[in-house]
Amino acid sequence: MFLCLYKMAATSAATFSIGSTISLGTKVSQLPQSKPLSVRFNSQNTLATFSGLKAATFVKCESGSSFLGKESGAALQGAAAPKAQKSSQRSQHNLNPQASYKVAILGAAGGIGQPLALLVKMSPLISALHIYDIANVKGVAADLSHCNTPSQVLGFTGTSELPNSLKGVDVVVIPAGVPRKPGMTRDDLFSINANIVKTLVEAVADNCPDAFIHIISNPVNSTLPIAAEVLKQKGVYDPKKLFGVTTLDVVRANTFVAQKKNLKLIDVDVPVVGGHAGKTILPLLSKTRPPVSFNDEEVQELTVRIQNAGTEVVEAKEGAGSATLSMAYAAARFVESSLRALDGDADVYECSFVQSDLTELPFFASRVKLGRKGVEAFISSDLQGLTEYEQKALEALKPELKASIEKGIAFAQKQPVTT
Ligand code: NAD
Ligand code: LMR
Repeated sequence: MFLCLYKMAATSAATFSIGSTISLGTKVSQLPQSKPLSVRFNSQNTLATFSGLKAATFVKCESGSSFLGKESGAALQGAAAPKAQKSSQRSQHNLNPQASYKVAILGAAGGIGQPLALLVKMSPLISALHIYDIANVKGVAADLSHCNTPSQVLGFTGTSELPNSLKGVDVVVIPAGVPRKPGMTRDDLFSINANIVKTLVEAVADNCPDAFIHIISNPVNSTLPIAAEVLKQKGVYDPKKLFGVTTLDVVRANTFVAQKKNLKLIDVDVPVVGGHAGKTILPLLSKTRPPVSFNDEEVQELTVRIQNAGTEVVEAKEGAGSATLSMAYAAARFVESSLRALDGDADVYECSFVQSDLTELPFFASRVKLGRKGVEAFISSDLQGLTEYEQKALEALKPELKASIEKGIAFAQKQPVTT
């Protein structure tokens, strides 16, 4: 994805290698896969879009490796491998990138915010990166701004600068808030993070109501409903553009399944549905692509590991916070997918916690198709033909998820928005 850009940015006619970060034009009729990173070619074999390149008018690409090296570049690739193999037969391509979007990160000086800002800074699809925090953001902005990638970085500190950080923005990412310590649940963060998310989303409603909004702050099962309620109260709620970020669950599921079954990481795609806390995180292992069979023990072990992966990191960090680097990676993937959708890529699928009618719950994480206007379709087939284990787990998660959703809605309704 952004890997190529790093090299490209050194010179406007750099020769750099894409390896498996290239995929040939994809057909919407193909089975949807989370396909976070790709390059598309038009009929003249020039690049129509490239999810990693924007500024240079023409850049020559040579397949074979990324700046991280062949294998590590491939490892970051996600589910586009089969197409990548085809494309690697082409040795050189002219890139003619066109897109130009503005992204804001709120909470950008934090553990997630900083590496996320770096990854987003590497995207060629972005012309401006606005980073906002209540403190310490100017230094981060100065630091990032020295990277010779296309986007301009602007730092904004404190509530007086919040409105300007949001003006004209296409995608707003919100990782602001406190993280867990060992022994805490995500819901234990509610009392602090609910207010933070409410205040920030009010500002989003006032300054960039048409933006895609990505909520990372926990507990996502409640903060997403809070955000929805705030936007409703402000009269600007578009359910298609509000997303709870659950990409990290998919990233983890893909990693753990690939390790367990000794598969090539880039081939594996596991949909994860439900919500983002404990047993509300439900990986649908029976829907893994490529198709893989698991025995009962493997299903139990993998499901529990994916559900507890956040806690695994919290405990390993021994009080110093929760997942930041893998979360930044996952959030950057979701930003990239959103930008590709905004840019007209008709083949973008991601799991996300969104307003949904797939179940009786008002919000539910599932795979969705993204388009210029946000969620274009729900991939309902993921919920059909579940195994008995998955069906039981789906029913079992609903009461907890429902309670978390209702808690968020009740909070927002008790504290009307400021006008
Ligand atoms: P952190 O403490 O390192 O950073 C949080 C940042 O938010 C800080 O820089 C802080 O100054 C800033 N902040 C606090 N209040 C703010 C406000 N009102 N406006 C703007 N910025 C504000 O925490 P982190 O590790 O980056 O985690 C952030 C949040 O993300 C936590 O709630 C954590 O639980 C959550 N998280 C979610 C996922 C997920 O999958 N959705 C994964 C990991 C972490
Ligand atoms: C995660 O899944 O890593 C995050 O939700 C952070 C946490 O508290 O576990």
